Amino acid sequence: MADAVVDTVASVPVAVIGAGPAGLMLAHRLSRAGVDTIVVDTRTRREIETTHRAGILEADAARDLVETGVSDRILREGHEHEGTELRFGGRAHRIHFKALVGESVWLYPQTDVFTDLADARDRDGGTVHFGVKGTEVLDITTGTPRVRYTAADGSRHEVRAQYVVGADGSRSMCRNLVPEDRRVRYGKEYPFAWFGIMAEAPPSAPELVYAHSGHGFALISQRTETVQRMYFQCSPGESVDAWPDDRIWETLQARVAGEDGFRLKEGPILDKSVLRFRSFVQEPMRWGSMVLAGDAAHTVPPTGARGLNLALHDVKVLADILLRALGTEGEAALEDYQPRALQRIWRAQNFSHWMTRLLHTPPGGTPFDLRRQLGELDNVVGTPAGRTYLAVQYTGWPVGSQA
Ligand code: PHB
Repeated sequence: MADAVVDTVASVPVAVIGAGPAGLMLAHRLSRAGVDTIVVDTRTRREIETTHRAGILEADAARDLVETGVSDRILREGHEHEGTELRFGGRAHRIHFKALVGESVWLYPQTDVFTDLADARDRDGGTVHFGVKGTEVLDITTGTPRVRYTAADGSRHEVRAQYVVGADGSRSMCRNLVPEDRRVRYGKEYPFAWFGIMAEAPPSAPELVYAHSGHGFALISQRTETVQRMYFQCSPGESVDAWPDDRIWETLQARVAGEDGFRLKEGPILDKSVLRFRSFVQEPMRWGSMVLAGDAAHTVPPTGARGLNLALHDVKVLADILLRALGTEGEAALEDYQPRALQRIWRAQNFSHWMTRLLHTPPGGTPFDLRRQLGELDNVVGTPAGRTYLAVQYTGWPVGSQA
């Protein structure tokens, strides 16, 4: 394949595989420092924009969108949440992030982050090719890696780069380029999934509600004044066809019900999907002149809202390191990437796993398991240490919190 004829050959310092938030934010950060990129993605822009993803940005990530000049739309259309609610034992318990750790989070869907980043690339004259096919990454163990792809119109292209970044998501092909005998994959499967809906209804609560119940977990999130996002724990093999609207509302209502009489505001369901998830990390995150970022290197269960934030943190670190590598330091600068990214990755792995286990009902769980979980939840909301632990992890770790 390496000798196949191509229609164009281009040279840029950094080629990026994947035009999700990680790939586009990296391209944006590099372009601010005068470094050109070419970003390719197999998906069309429309496909990415219409795939529902998570909705919470930590304050640092929200600030970065504004301060690096991506867009300030989040300030107008996003919602700052100073806390979140944990519901269990039929009662509401608020964790007040702002009072506990001085930070808040922003409800701003990933699809909006993507749109802002894609618009910023257009505005700044960046090159992003959506809907490409047959992407090949070649020669990554040399200092002159290449990317080949077929554009949507059938033409063949080659990009010659100094570094290639694999930001190609949870089904990454780039991560498979690290030889099998040189990589380690750490992972964990969960015996449940999330059933996600978009509903046309007013918000049921001013902030997110993470609900534990004897019937399983539920999460009440929002999108706009008229569209809401909600999830409930289901089995990984669940089919959306088995869930007419009535059954969905009955299930969600039972999971948030309590002595305070809390009820969800119902409405027509616009979208239904089953979201499977797992915990996953691949090391090393670099092979030769290729570096992995975001979901390509690690995925987390959605319970702690860490995935997007972690991806944006990776590329913040990586942009700095690539600028050093392209400057006087050369490839040796890449050695710093994995240690600097991994600390936060494993903290987020732990937090996402902890929060998943804290709130979901394991199949086959016993009455002991349920009571123990309630004891743990009580420890979280009922002690300053418990509340602060949750607030620190959920809002993102403060600078200087390294051991
Ligand atoms: C969402 O709004 O889609 C959302 C929010 C918080 C999560 C997961 C998903 O933990």
